[in-house]
Amino acid sequence: MTTPVMDPGRAMMTLLSPAGKRDPYPLYEALRSYGPLLPLGPGQLVVTGHAECARALREPALLSTDGAVQDSMMPGWRDHSSWVWLTKNMLFSNNPDHDRYRRFFSVGFTPRRIAALQPAVERLIGGLVDRLGTLGEGGAPVDFMAEFAFRVPMAIMGELLGIPEEEQAGFRGHIGAITTALEPIQDLAQLLPGDAAMEELAVYFRDLVAKRRAEPGDDLVSELVRQLDTTGGISEEELVANFMLLLVAGTEAPMDLIGNGLRLAVEHPQHAAALREDDSLAPGYVEEVLRFDPAAQALNRMAVKDFDFFGVPLTAGTKVTLLIAAGNRDPRQYADPGTFNPYRTGNHALTLSGGAHYCLGAGLARMQAEVALPAVLRRFPGLALASEPTFRDQLVQRGFATLPVKLG
Ligand code: HEM
Repeated sequence: MTTPVMDPGRAMMTLLSPAGKRDPYPLYEALRSYGPLLPLGPGQLVVTGHAECARALREPALLSTDGAVQDSMMPGWRDHSSWVWLTKNMLFSNNPDHDRYRRFFSVGFTPRRIAALQPAVERLIGGLVDRLGTLGEGGAPVDFMAEFAFRVPMAIMGELLGIPEEEQAGFRGHIGAITTALEPIQDLAQLLPGDAAMEELAVYFRDLVAKRRAEPGDDLVSELVRQLDTTGGISEEELVANFMLLLVAGTEAPMDLIGNGLRLAVEHPQHAAALREDDSLAPGYVEEVLRFDPAAQALNRMAVKDFDFFGVPLTAGTKVTLLIAAGNRDPRQYADPGTFNPYRTGNHALTLSGGAHYCLGAGLARMQAEVALPAVLRRFPGLALASEPTFRDQLVQRGFATLPVKLG
């Protein structure tokens, strides 16, 4: 049992500091030492337990941050186009809208559709590994995040949505600004970069919808525009809002999964060597990266009624912070949780959520990382860090800003 190292209020504050975001794991242990559920004053509950997070994600009385929830959490949000658009997508809505959106978009993410994408994913990753080799010729340091980890999911989303290759790299700034709007906000002005990015993306996707309506292709945008025009089900604005969600959700977190997975391979050469030799180890390796150093660390919910949650009385309006990255290291769930062990069995990481909002792109996220990481390790067996990585100033979607490598 860990002994309390700091009071829980201070641990939560420290978590939001740059140092806390760089290394949140000791702070999760400090919070866990108070138990899996930590009421922080009236109206706020922090959850660090695995079973408790898993249950919370499936509890209908705990709502995702929709417009009505945001009215009580972040008054003034309606003046900010980032959140105005976000609350029109499936992630930030509750029923009946959530089911309606999810049903509409699910056709793009059936296991069959994802399996059919695999040859394209392999081709795109092959091209990006070649490109990395050219950039790193003669031992030149290369930023793995910009030159590979971002480009892989961006190329895949480009293929899926029909975004031309030459336009893809330009989206990285927009995507970063929008995910920053999901972080805990002290001042609404912090939303301004996300607002501007969202407005530009909305113009882009409105235009893309118009183009594909006029001239359909075999991409998902064309297919869903056709579905909207024949069967309806959602409005054009909701269509655009959810395409923007797909672009952002489909790139930023997979980028971090690939970045974190590579860093862990460098730190654990024996696991990297095994992965290089045997492709069948890739699913276990990727699952353990998701558990051990997750791209998504925290999720928010709000209680919609008074009820008892594992013995803690919650009142309507209670803000519930699910520290899923802490749940992923809960010793009641995992033996030796602080050890990176790709050979674990029964690894039910919380990183892709659960319940109604379970990640729609989970299969695609896993598949691309399972292809990308062995491909890089095989092509560059001498890959090493060129200098220390830097972190983005984010906790909800935590990951590297830069990861300089030498390809050997
Ligand atoms: C490592 C990669 C990924 C991680 C860690 C991740 C994580 C998550 C999490 C935690 C949620 C639910 C949040 C909540 O319950 O409040 C979610 C939902 C979602 N994700 Fe992912 N995701 C990843 C990749 C992807 C990809 C590749 C796509 C699309 C191509 C995608 C699309 C979505 C969508 C559309 C939702 C909303 C589902 C809903 O609300 O019903 N994600 N993801």
